[in-house]
Amino acid sequence: MTFKYQNANIHYTKSGTGPAVILLHGFLESTTMWEPLVSRIADKHTVIAIDFPGMGKSEPVAEVHTMTMMAEVVHALLQESNIDKATLIGHSMGGYITLAFIDLFEDKAEKIILLNTTSIADSEERKSVRNRSVQLVRERPKAYISMAIGNWAVEDSREKFKEDLDFLKNQAYTFPIEGITAALRGMRDRKDRTEVLSKFPKPKYLLLAEDDPIIDAKETSKLAQQAGVKVKIISGGHMSMIENQTALLDFVQSALED
Ligand code: MLT
Repeated sequence: MTFKYQNANIHYTKSGTGPAVILLHGFLESTTMWEPLVSRIADKHTVIAIDFPGMGKSEPVAEVHTMTMMAEVVHALLQESNIDKATLIGHSMGGYITLAFIDLFEDKAEKIILLNTTSIADSEERKSVRNRSVQLVRERPKAYISMAIGNWAVEDSREKFKEDLDFLKNQAYTFPIEGITAALRGMRDRKDRTEVLSKFPKPKYLLLAEDDPIIDAKETSKLAQQAGVKVKIISGGHMSMIENQTALLDFVQSALED
């Protein structure tokens, strides 16, 4: 299904019936990453997954896709679907967007479930990496995508889950270059939302992976627990949905039932 946001066609999927759950994918991902979770929870929930602008089947809308703008797109989707309140589940960049969403529309979120993500902003060093990545995407998009997705998984997983990782890469090769660069700039410019997370008065959960090369599990866990978040750390790298799927699905299901 699609709806319009600032003249761009935004794609989403909808399945099941029951309380609303909104699924927010990460960078270089799309609604397809959620298929195993949709199968697990759609018997008891209305499950909506969005393709963020410039990813999946959605068109880009601007040069910088700020986390705030992406949260506004999620809000527009709730309105489009006549949903007043929902549980938000966000993976990595989708987690940054979940935090931007509760910053703007706290009363619309019933519960948040964060996966492989953090509330802190990019360090100066990471901002420079984002700028170099923007350059690389423009010059050699396939090389960049292949390297980025390859680096997210731990070494053992690269062979073991080659098919799933290749699927992700092949899908991301079809995304418009301006969509990828706009998301990189948006992540680079995002603010620290630890305070926002801390003040969110409703249930909040975070799943981290021990060997995640993007999100430091120990530091992030400490910070999140101080913010009143229920944290679980599992084995594997950044792509828990692929690398440790059963643990991720069990975590989300018990958080939904909690
Ligand atoms: C993601 O998986 O969404 C990104 O790798 C997160 C990031 O680069 O900060």
